[in-house]
Amino acid sequence: MKDLSEKVIIITGASSGIGEATAKLLAERGAKVVLGARRTEKLAQIVEDIQAAGGAAAYGKLDVTVPEDNTNLAQLAKDNFGGIDAIFLNAGIMPTAPLSAMKTDEWRQTVDVNVNGVLNGIAAVLPTFLEQKSGHVIAVSSVAGLKAYPGSAVYGGTKWFVRDFMEVLRMESALEGTNIRTATIYPAAINTELLDSITHEQSAEQMEGLYQQHGIAPERVANVVAFALSQPEDTNVNEFTLGPTTQPW
Ligand SMILES: NC(=O)c1ccc[n+]([C@@H]2O[C@H](COP(=O)([O-])OP(=O)(O)OC[C@H]3O[C@@H](n4cnc5c(N)ncnc54)[C@H](OP(=O)(O)O)[C@@H]3O)[C@@H](O)[C@H]2O)c1
Repeated sequence: MKDLSEKVIIITGASSGIGEATAKLLAERGAKVVLGARRTEKLAQIVEDIQAAGGAAAYGKLDVTVPEDNTNLAQLAKDNFGGIDAIFLNAGIMPTAPLSAMKTDEWRQTVDVNVNGVLNGIAAVLPTFLEQKSGHVIAVSSVAGLKAYPGSAVYGGTKWFVRDFMEVLRMESALEGTNIRTATIYPAAINTELLDSITHEQSAEQMEGLYQQHGIAPERVANVVAFALSQPEDTNVNEFTLGPTTQPW
């Protein structure tokens, strides 16, 4: 039997990058994956690829900023696979720019996706996890959630939020005896579509240079997610910082 067999795992932001790579790896290892993102044509193709390789997957349209989309995806997991064991809160955007560029719409959008999106995702699964007294929440923060970077005031702030939120979830779960496990991942430069959301020209150029020099494949993050999920029930592996060997971060 494969090590993640019988686990039903929701993945937000599964249409590209880290989410897509993780969906494929977890399905290979036996998990039933339920994929959400806005670009459903991409999700349909990923589900087809997983099924063609003998895996189990379903997808649904998900804008993480819309609470009902999140609850609908949770329901889809139950309808298709009979329950929910884990959620990978991965959807995010990173439109970095200095504050002086006054990209106030992007500030709001970043908070909405990276903070409210995480809250909406948790709200969609927490009642199920509390009732069954088990569940695994894995979230992507960033190295920008561990220290400050110019250009990342808002993005970094949303990722510091993820760090705090996940640690409190872990502590409350232990105190309340609900067996909800947590893992927070802090990646450095991973080659995905993330830089596409940067509209500030100078920031985009700088980031592209950094990623071209150092970036590693999203499958590296997928390996960490699989590691966290494959621990015994009594063990919570809680925080992972990973990035290119060459990148000083
Ligand atoms: N790449 C890195 O170097 C790096 C480093 C640290 C942290 N991270 C974090 O890793 C996570 C994944 O990003 P990635 O690097 O894999 O970039 P990516 O390839 O751009 O993937 C981002 C995913 O988020 C989804 N998404 C964006 N807005 C959404 C919304 N409103 N509702 C639902 N889904 C939404 C996108 O799907 P749709 O557009 O189809 O909705 C896409 O599937 C993000 O949280 C990012 O902050 C990445």
